[in-house]
Amino acid sequence: MKKEDFIYNDNCETPLNGSSHWESPSNIALVKYWGKSDVQIPKNTSISFTLNKCLTSTKLEFVKKTNSSELIDFDIYYDDKLKEDFKPKIQSFFDKIIKYCPYILNYKFKINTFNTFPHSSGIASSASGISALALCIMSLEQLINPKITDKYFFMKASFLARLGSGSACRSLKGRINLWGYHSSFSTSSDLYSIDFPNKVDDVFNTYHDAVLLVDKGIKTVSSTAGHNLMNNHPFADKRFQIAQENIDKLSTILKNGDTNEFVKIVENEALMLHGLMMTSNPSYILIKSKTLQIIESIREFRLKNKIPVCFTLDAGANVHVLFPDKYSDEVYDFIESKLKMYCENNSYIKDCVGFGAKQL
Ligand code: DP6
Repeated sequence: MKKEDFIYNDNCETPLNGSSHWESPSNIALVKYWGKSDVQIPKNTSISFTLNKCLTSTKLEFVKKTNSSELIDFDIYYDDKLKEDFKPKIQSFFDKIIKYCPYILNYKFKINTFNTFPHSSGIASSASGISALALCIMSLEQLINPKITDKYFFMKASFLARLGSGSACRSLKGRINLWGYHSSFSTSSDLYSIDFPNKVDDVFNTYHDAVLLVDKGIKTVSSTAGHNLMNNHPFADKRFQIAQENIDKLSTILKNGDTNEFVKIVENEALMLHGLMMTSNPSYILIKSKTLQIIESIREFRLKNKIPVCFTLDAGANVHVLFPDKYSDEVYDFIESKLKMYCENNSYIKDCVGFGAKQL
């Protein structure tokens, strides 16, 4: 599909009013997206696990305006409370999708959104939030044009979500998603994410992700600023090459169910991501000393107990602890006794690989 294929240009009747309601999860990348050209065209392919419990629920209510204008008319609420400070981000999302969804100019919207994970926990809410809103918009498009197929519905929802925030395009479907063109995957695309198309051993379908909330503060450097620093980064070319190679390696690991090799790739990706931040110009550091203490403890525990538990990081200090279901008792005991104390208010989220967005 080309981006032109996502432009709505039918002349169907638009409904007078209605609503759509979706719940969409967050995701955690195993091979990281870090570096992009405009607008969210990734410099390398990424692969992620979809999460199950870190969700955003978004309800979009729409009423047809009496006269259509060039302005997008909306109010945004978080948990039923008007949130003026959320407006610029949503406005910028609407501005980016208007070319593909011109019918949004015909409506006044009320958006009511809610996260199941603690607000400002340091967990990226943009992946779940933007993907939920993109799905709501696509439900409106489906009302206008019921002929669109399920396949097109999800492809365009992923395409729209990507315009809002790159990693959001990987949040719609379950379990494992792949985003960004890769020569080993004929259906892969820079424009939207696809269900990981190759065989996956069952062990990875029930993986756990315990999210340790080390720092709930607002990030000092935004993801977008971080991506931009990859433009003149001295290691950029090598990084993008390694990421493409890691996709192939991870694909083999997922097929063979090799949890020990999984540990190596996933931890290497997480540390490379933060290494790139530390070596950019200007450089910056998002991990905290507690992040490093957790990493050391996980490595000691793994060596001592021969359990293939590993960590990954997103663009922040929180640690995602990944492990197979059959070790969940041992790993949760370990988290309770040795890791929880590094978390703010001793809090962490017991999540696992999930099934993707749900219409409510
Ligand atoms: C480190 O998707 O948040 O989590 O496209 O600028 O919105 P924008 O960035 P964003 O970047 C996520 C980066 C990451 C790695 C990943 O999820 O692949």
